[in-house]
Amino acid sequence: MTGREPAGRAVVIGGASGIGAAIVRALAAAGAPVTVADRDVAAARTLAAELGAEPAALDVTDEDSVAALFESVPGPVDFVVNTAGVSVLGLLTELPADKWRRVLDVCLTGAFLTIKHAAPRLAAGGSIAVLSSLNARQPAIGMGAYCSAKAGLGMLVEVAALELAPRGIRVNAIAPGLVRTPLTAASLELPGVEADYLANTPLGRAGTPEEIADAALYLRRAGWLTGETLDLNGGAHLLRYPDVHGHIRRATAPAAGKEPTWTR
Ligand SMILES: NC(=O)c1ccc[n+]([C@@H]2O[C@H](COP(=O)([O-])OP(=O)(O)OC[C@H]3O[C@@H](n4cnc5c(N)ncnc54)[C@H](O)[C@@H]3O)[C@@H](O)[C@H]2O)c1
Repeated sequence: MTGREPAGRAVVIGGASGIGAAIVRALAAAGAPVTVADRDVAAARTLAAELGAEPAALDVTDEDSVAALFESVPGPVDFVVNTAGVSVLGLLTELPADKWRRVLDVCLTGAFLTIKHAAPRLAAGGSIAVLSSLNARQPAIGMGAYCSAKAGLGMLVEVAALELAPRGIRVNAIAPGLVRTPLTAASLELPGVEADYLANTPLGRAGTPEEIADAALYLRRAGWLTGETLDLNGGAHLLRYPDVHGHIRRATAPAAGKEPTWTR
């Protein structure tokens, strides 16, 4: 595919909120039939009803659920995006293993299951995009599970791109820096967090969900791009990740100065 606008259905997993919802809106505005799949089916239904899209209930960590989604979506599919992601904060020496597994499950295994079950529905010219993060390349104290999962996505995308290239299917990732969404809202309310992010962002501002959606539309039609993780962060990858853990510790430490356990 070169320069041709894709004409099939788009499926957006995690499409009910934040960046995923912006991608759904951009695809619908571009005239694509869209399926909005999310664990939060009520929110998926609301957005789908507004846009004339199809809602679907899905847990991206559950292989049967992902397989059932791709068996049931109607018509030819040409673009699949997985934006589902969660994070927990906790030092590696304190983080409960079940919280580690949860983040890896949603952020990394979910992307694997998406690729595995989306690929059979895609013809040559189709593509898959997954949401990575600035944390794929920048470590952050207290974010070991999230950083590890997002770093793993880079290699998953490269292997998938190699395996699916003979069928003409492309696989790419977008790695955003700070974008205001429900995922980041709580930490941005803590004193110092946003200022620290922006001090480490050469272009001096957060991104918008619409800017990430623009990149997704580009990946959908970029017929010669595969195996790529696109850093989209105002240049933040050139500097260092802010000390979110330190800000949270200072904001929530008891007056006595005792160290609490930093997991949530
Ligand atoms: N917001 C940012 O600053 C930022 C920065 C870098 C990367 N990202 C990544 O972008 C993606 C989207 O983040 P967002 O900020 O829009 O978050 P969000 O919380 O607004 O949206 C995430 C969506 O994923 C859904 N979801 C979560 N677990 C799921 C599961 N198991 N199955 C199906 N759906 C599930 C949620 O219901 C929600 O609708 C995530 O992968 C996140 O890691 C976000």
